[in-house]
Amino acid sequence: MWTHWRRYFENHARRPLPAPPSDVDAIPAAWRAPLCASLARFQLGEGGEGRIAREVLRAELPGVDADYCAALGLFVKEEGRHARILAGMVRALGGQLLRRHWSERLFVIGRRLLGLRLKLLVLLAAEVLGLGFYALLSRRLGAGTIAEQLREIADDEGMHLEFHADLFRMLVGQRRAARWLFRGAWWSIALLACAVLVVDHRRTLAALGVSRAGTLVRLLRLVALVDRRVLGAPLVVGFSATARAA
Ligand SMILES: [Fe+2]
Ligand SMILES: [Fe+2]
Repeated sequence: MWTHWRRYFENHARRPLPAPPSDVDAIPAAWRAPLCASLARFQLGEGGEGRIAREVLRAELPGVDADYCAALGLFVKEEGRHARILAGMVRALGGQLLRRHWSERLFVIGRRLLGLRLKLLVLLAAEVLGLGFYALLSRRLGAGTIAEQLREIADDEGMHLEFHADLFRMLVGQRRAARWLFRGAWWSIALLACAVLVVDHRRTLAALGVSRAGTLVRLLRLVALVDRRVLGAPLVVGFSATARAA
């Protein structure tokens, strides 16, 4: 079942890295500093998934094959590509890249405290945050290079969400206890992650005139979408529904 994911990531890996934005002057001046601060925090989080990927490969989870392993490696590279694109945006907006930030540390510490399956749930929650936040920012910005690049990254995150959801659907299966365990753990981790995002990026949301409640509702729709994907959706899924939910 993982062959199509390997092919998907192989095709995506052929995309050239886009040029850094050169049209940031079109973004309202009052938006630029908070936008830059938010993008720098996400940039920091984009590069930290290689360690979990190595753990997944070592753990030899049931149903995982060579195609999955190849896809997972390419997924990590794609996140590295996002980090480089976001770095271009931060520099174009006159900001500096971060070495560390409390929200990123929180995710790292959270992952280290947990077992592999829960770590993967944290990874899935990060996809929800990325998809929801990049889509929200790109919509608010409307036009311009940063909006276009964020849209492309959000599309990628939507597919990452499907990729991880496919793994969980396989791991959870039809066992009643496993399904309830997944639901409890997923909603706990995802709700905490969404709350952290809304608090951490409150200044950016305020500067761009985006309501925190509205942001939370959008994120929760994605959390519910993951729940349906893993526990109730047919095996063959399309990206369009994910994009609509964002
Ligand atoms: Fe990403
Ligand atoms: Fe992602």
